[in-house]
This record gives sequence, structure tokens and C-alpha cells, in this order.
Amino acid sequence: MAAFYEATVTDIHHWTDRLFSFRTTRDPAFRFEDGQFAMIGLEVEGRALLRAYSMASPNHDDGLEFFSIKVPNGPLTSRLQHIRIGDTVLIGKKPTGTLVQDSLLPGRNLYLVSTGTGFAPFASIVRDFAVYERYERIVAIHGCREVAELGYSKHIIDAVLADEYLGEAAAGKLIYFPTVTREAFTNTGRVTTALEDGTISAKAGLAPLDPAHDRVMICGSEAMLKDLVVLMKFRGFREGSSSEAGHYVIEKAFVEK
Ligand code: A2P
Repeated sequence: MAAFYEATVTDIHHWTDRLFSFRTTRDPAFRFEDGQFAMIGLEVEGRALLRAYSMASPNHDDGLEFFSIKVPNGPLTSRLQHIRIGDTVLIGKKPTGTLVQDSLLPGRNLYLVSTGTGFAPFASIVRDFAVYERYERIVAIHGCREVAELGYSKHIIDAVLADEYLGEAAAGKLIYFPTVTREAFTNTGRVTTALEDGTISAKAGLAPLDPAHDRVMICGSEAMLKDLVVLMKFRGFREGSSSEAGHYVIEKAFVEK
């Protein structure tokens, strides 16, 4: 049995010269939990060239969506960025990952902290109905270099709030905090700084970060993860896993090539 499904590209959107998202068909047998990732890629010279990608679409979606960087010389993304509607993409059959609800203890507020393409798993989670039943507030934080790079997360959040059903579930609960580091914007500076100095909690009308009531999911660059783990530990948060639920979970934003 092959280790992957063949899916057909149904939509592509280029957000900037570094970022794009695309949709594919979904084999009905492909099951995953919101927040998980799978190996996906292309057949190149008769061989499967695969990288880890978070599913950006929610499990209830009939199709699949992915959010990707474009690296000029990256073995996969230099090719993947040129896909067209109707092309075939390979989807690994074994989704996995730590950004799942079972790895977190029950809590009041859920912070989803991302940089760059690290927003992908959260695009899935903010479109999950159950998350709005589980938490009082969901704070979706996305840090990028430039405003244009926030296009995908803004589009997703706007679509959730405008959706007839999801919008009702998310109303008053979903808070979006976009920030950029390399140009002027409403919010500027790194996500780590805005979390540490209390800017985000204050803007969301929430008490300072505290493991007593807050849960945190983190996805982004290695440097960002490293810095945030220091902050989490300092505040008394314990990392969760599939074997023992905790106060926060982390995952690297995978595709860098
Ligand atoms: P900066 O402009 O200061 O490097 P990238 O596109 O390189 O993945 O970066 C995405 C965002 O992550 C940028 O805003 C970048 O800020 C930020 N960033 C880089 N390193 C860290 C870090 N250690 N902690 C928090 N944010 C970071």
C-alpha cells in the first residue's frame, strides 16, 4: 500500500512573493485532528519529495488547505510554488503532531501564538467549532515581518467571523492580534515581547498570562519557540504531550526548504 494519497490542486493564492496557500481534494479516508500535520509534496523524477505541512483547513472541511513559504532554492517549495489547478500533490497517510486539544489541560483562554507560516495549524483550529465550546476566549496571535504577510491570517479570521455558523460560535470569543516587526502597523514588535510585557492580554481584556487559566499553543521559527518556552517556564507553565496534558504545547513551523 502506498504511503500517500494523490490529491488534486483546486485553488492557489499567492499572498506575497514569499507566501502562498493552496487547496486540494481530500481522500475521504484521510482523517486528522485540527492542528496536526502530514508529509506532503510532489513526485520529482519518479520519487516522492515530501515535507511536513500542517493542515490549515479544519477536519470538517471536504478539501485540504496548506499555507507555505516559497524558498527560491528549496528542493520542494521552489517547485510547489509553481503548482497549478489540476496538478497532483502527494499527501502522506499518517497525520500527527502535538498541537492538539488532548495535550492541553482544560482552561479558560486559549492563546495561539505563531510567526510566519506557523499560523497554518491555527487556521485549522480557529475553524473548529469545538474550540469555542471549550474556551471562553481564543486569542490568535500572528507575527510577521511585513503587513502583507498577515494577509492569510487576516483572511481566515475575517472569514470565521463572517461565517453564518462559525461566526456565531466565535463572536466575542475570537480575538486576533497581528503584529509586524519591519514596518509601521497598528501593532509592531515581536510576539514574544507583546506576550511578555502584557500588551496582548491587555488588548484582549484578559488578566496576565497565568497557568491557572490560560493554555498556549505555539508554532513558528526555532528562535521564537526557544524564547517563548523560556517565558512559559518562567510563568510556571508546564509543557503538555500526548501522554500527559499540560499548560502549553509547541511545534516548529516546518517547511523551510
Ligand atoms: P524580526 O523581523 O525581528 O526577525 P520570519 O519571516 O523570518 O520567519 O519571521 C517572522 C517573524 O518572526 C518576524 O516578525 C520576526 O521578527 C519574528 N521573529 C524572529 N525571531 C523571533 C524570536 N526569537 N521571537 C519572536 N519573534 C521572532
